[in-house]
Amino acid sequence: MNAKPMIFSGIQPSGKLHIGNYLGAIKQFVPLQDTYDAIFGIVDLHAMTQLYDKEEMSERIINAAVNYLACGLDPDKATLMLQSGVSEHAELAWILSTVTPLPWIQRVPTFKEKAKNQPDNVNMGLFNYPVLMAADILLYKSVAVPVGEDQRPHLELTREIARAFNQRFGSFFPEPEEIIKGGKDARVMGLDGKRRMSKSLDNCIYLDDDAETIYEKVTRQGVTDPARVRKSDPGNPDICNMFTWHTFFSDERTQKECAQQCRDAEFGCMDCKAVLVRNIVQTLEPIQERQKELLEDLDKVRDIISEGTERARKIAREAMKEVREITGMTYLD
Ligand code: TYM
Repeated sequence: MNAKPMIFSGIQPSGKLHIGNYLGAIKQFVPLQDTYDAIFGIVDLHAMTQLYDKEEMSERIINAAVNYLACGLDPDKATLMLQSGVSEHAELAWILSTVTPLPWIQRVPTFKEKAKNQPDNVNMGLFNYPVLMAADILLYKSVAVPVGEDQRPHLELTREIARAFNQRFGSFFPEPEEIIKGGKDARVMGLDGKRRMSKSLDNCIYLDDDAETIYEKVTRQGVTDPARVRKSDPGNPDICNMFTWHTFFSDERTQKECAQQCRDAEFGCMDCKAVLVRNIVQTLEPIQERQKELLEDLDKVRDIISEGTERARKIAREAMKEVREITGMTYLD
């Protein structure tokens, strides 16, 4: 019996992972694997709510696993699993949907946002998305869920669904807390500085971008203080998204120097960006080295996914047995 409390978090294999995923989510997963029994899912059923190329799905799954591991997840400490490999996720999602009043889902802001982003594909899966997410979390009786700020409404809903289930069938699921960082890295803005960094928008630095690509993206697309037109204009780092990125990647001394030189108009935006690029590249270097090693040993990565999924399956099977008992769905037992 493992005495550690459970946590669950997930990432959709809906494209390459970016520095928002890293700073907002995966980076904080790493220390948690020591104190919790942590399950990290590659949530491919969620990714099906968007149109995708079926030939690419396996590659995306392996890519997500490689990134989880390259960023520091340790399969000896945490469980890395594939959602579609544990059918209990979908089964519990159905049961939870029967205690979820329709208006709760209708008010979820992420549904409205997604429906707006893909108007030709507003499918039921998109609507049920937060219920499946509640199932991911509650299936393992997770007490906490580390996520970026954008997932907060889903966590609020998960607690409400747990409460509704417990009221109807008797106390069973814990109401999981969200673990969201306090800083700006809980919501990393994209290169455009206007919207959250997101795979669906052309505003990302990906975890496998090379130095040249990062330089091109930051210097061409990185939006700075809009009021600063010439190098001789004093800038305001407080409203500069690229300066916010410095707070993620540069040490305190560099941050102070860049801010001061910007305010004093000694440093142009390009100078400041050059320092930023160097520090992003340096931060990503060890991750990319590990990515390369893992990509050369994909059998090992596949084994890690299989073993983790098998462990998750065992826990899920037990939990669903209990759920069937307390909901009276045991006719054939
Ligand atoms: P996904 O795949 O969109 O994102 C994975 C994680 O990355 C965080 N994140 C960000 N954090 C800061 N700034 C950003 N720009 C940024 N972009 C993404 C997300 O908050 C998330 O933590 N619904 C989830 C997947 C999911 C899940 C779950 C999460 C399914 N079941 C159960 C937790 C528990 C999602 O779309 O993540």
